[in-house]
Amino acid sequence: MLSHTFVGQNRTVNKKSNKKQIKSIMDKITVVGAGNVGATCANVIAHKDLAREVVLVDIKEGLAEGKALDIWQTSSINNFNARVVGATNDYLRTKGSGVIVITSGVPRKPGMSRDDLIKTNASIVKDVTEKVVKYSPDAIIIVVSNPLDVMTYTAFLASNKPANKVFGMAGILDTGRYRAFIANALNVSPKDIHALLLGGHGDTMVPLPRYTSINGIPITDLLAKEEIDKIVERTRFGGGELVNLMGTSAWYAPGAAAAQMVEAIVDDQKRVLPVCAKLNGEYGLKDLYLGVPVKLGKGGVEEVIQLNLNKEELKSLKDSAASVKKTLDVLDAMKLF
Ligand code: NAI
Ligand code: 2OP
Repeated sequence: MLSHTFVGQNRTVNKKSNKKQIKSIMDKITVVGAGNVGATCANVIAHKDLAREVVLVDIKEGLAEGKALDIWQTSSINNFNARVVGATNDYLRTKGSGVIVITSGVPRKPGMSRDDLIKTNASIVKDVTEKVVKYSPDAIIIVVSNPLDVMTYTAFLASNKPANKVFGMAGILDTGRYRAFIANALNVSPKDIHALLLGGHGDTMVPLPRYTSINGIPITDLLAKEEIDKIVERTRFGGGELVNLMGTSAWYAPGAAAAQMVEAIVDDQKRVLPVCAKLNGEYGLKDLYLGVPVKLGKGGVEEVIQLNLNKEELKSLKDSAASVKKTLDVLDAMKLF
């Protein structure tokens, strides 16, 4: 268990080893959408004491207030200070947020693809982005709502902010799944698995075995090609596997993944993580948001990292980009902007 005390703009984390680490803290972080993913994300942000105040907002009367109260009532049990408050559609409560996570929208049901959600979610994401930007013009925005790559583009257009301050969460979740499957296959700790994955958050995503290692040992030395292929395939359809099991989409890993991005920003960690970022010629692609490795710190996306992809990997990435572009065409046809 970690305990936290606040010192000015910092929080002190006392680890079991009694080693003290000084970490940064934000005044306010907002999560829009108090459903499965949003509430989980707010819960992790509060546990990590990333802000003095965590605000949950939802359109459904009482839901955000109720979830926030429930999370706040774990504070003495789980040893955190962050005040967690909820608000029904009241964006004044979000004023002055440093980071805003957008999870509002509908999740998919069995038989649906993420792209089937665009008609409903594009209007929701546009509307809430305009509202949060009004009260927190300097905030960094992390989008979670699906279809992720296109909803991130929607938030970018609605926010009028630079692209390095508006980006999306998917790659950390997808690599999390990939690493979990590899940990099972090799019976090793998932902590020692380092992996990268590119492309859109859909069935065309591109896990990269060539960039996957167990503490430096290439995965190709430890698993047969057929086993790696099976893991890659299961990762691509990892979201659908959970939808089929639960009748709705996942939340523990998505919420934790979005909170990891928030932590990288609050602590200015310069983490190299797969993030849905706007491309401007990188990988020969532009005018779209797509999953790529980036450096994540207090400035948001501080750098898009370009890998030396081989022909096959580059083709898979281009195919994934083409699939995202098709969904972008649906957004264009909606004429929201
Ligand atoms: P959920 O249905 O549990 O929660 C969504 C919440 O958004 C609901 O409480 C709803 O009342 C709220 N909402 C709807 N319209 C709103 C508005 N205009 N203003 C404020 N709140 C509004 O759904 P869940 O499971 O939390 O998923 C949320 C979204 O995240 C879905 O679009 C889902 O597909 C996506 N998702 C994305 C992932 C990723 O990797 N990027 C992973 C998991 C989910
Ligand atoms: C997931 O991958 C549905 O995008 C969501 O779980």
